[in-house]
Amino acid sequence: MQETREVTFAPGLLTEDVFSELKNLGKEYMRLMSYYSSAMLEIETKFKVLNIEFNGKFDRNPIESIKTRLKTPKSIIEKMDRIGVPLSVENIEHKLSDVAGVRVICSFVDDIYRLADMLALQDDVYILKTKDYIKNPKPSGYRSLHLIVEVPIFLSQEKRFMRVEVQLRTIAMDFWASLEHKLRYKKDIPQEHAQEIARQLIECAETVSRTDQQMLDIRRQIEESGR
Ligand code: GTP
Ligand code: MG
Repeated sequence: MQETREVTFAPGLLTEDVFSELKNLGKEYMRLMSYYSSAMLEIETKFKVLNIEFNGKFDRNPIESIKTRLKTPKSIIEKMDRIGVPLSVENIEHKLSDVAGVRVICSFVDDIYRLADMLALQDDVYILKTKDYIKNPKPSGYRSLHLIVEVPIFLSQEKRFMRVEVQLRTIAMDFWASLEHKLRYKKDIPQEHAQEIARQLIECAETVSRTDQQMLDIRRQIEESGR
């Protein structure tokens, strides 16, 4: 009898069977991922173009940096399982909106909305969904503007529309989110401590948000005084 071994990333989910199934999806899966990579490139380029144009007009860069990431096979399997959808290349494309992710780190809060508006105005980009966690922060304190966009990629034989999750945030919001994400992986904290830590993290998020607002006010004062 063949021995089977459980892979224990998440209890009951990630068996060797699931992994070999994913491997069997092989070529189709790799092709889909290459489409997502191309879509991320398109979106990244659009933001870079906007940054260059903005620099020419206002003599400053609204974008500090852009990061792109493709969801890992492990995260894809976990999410498909979480939402209760059978694993197939078709389902990955149709049921997930965050396989391709583009994170745009901005200088000031108003740059976030300006860039989002400018992207929305482009006639080959469709905004499918907007989640404004700046106006409505998550209970954790998390702030960012999330957009699910659809963008065409041009292949040799066809034009394909791909979905990309865009996260726009300030340097300060990114600083908070990065550290909070790291801390969240330490799961063996007793309940009473966890609550207190969550409270402190919310406090930090509010401090960061106030600082963002002050920085924007200062920039506006400088702009006003320069006129
Ligand atoms: P996911 O299944 O996690 O993708 O959730 P969702 O589909 O409801 O999307 P949501 O709008 O909550 O955004 C998910 C993404 O936003 C995550 O992958 C993180 O990058 C980021 N995010 C959301 N909430 C938090 C948070 O509390 N802390 C941090 N650090 N990041 C968060
Ligand atoms: Mg996600």
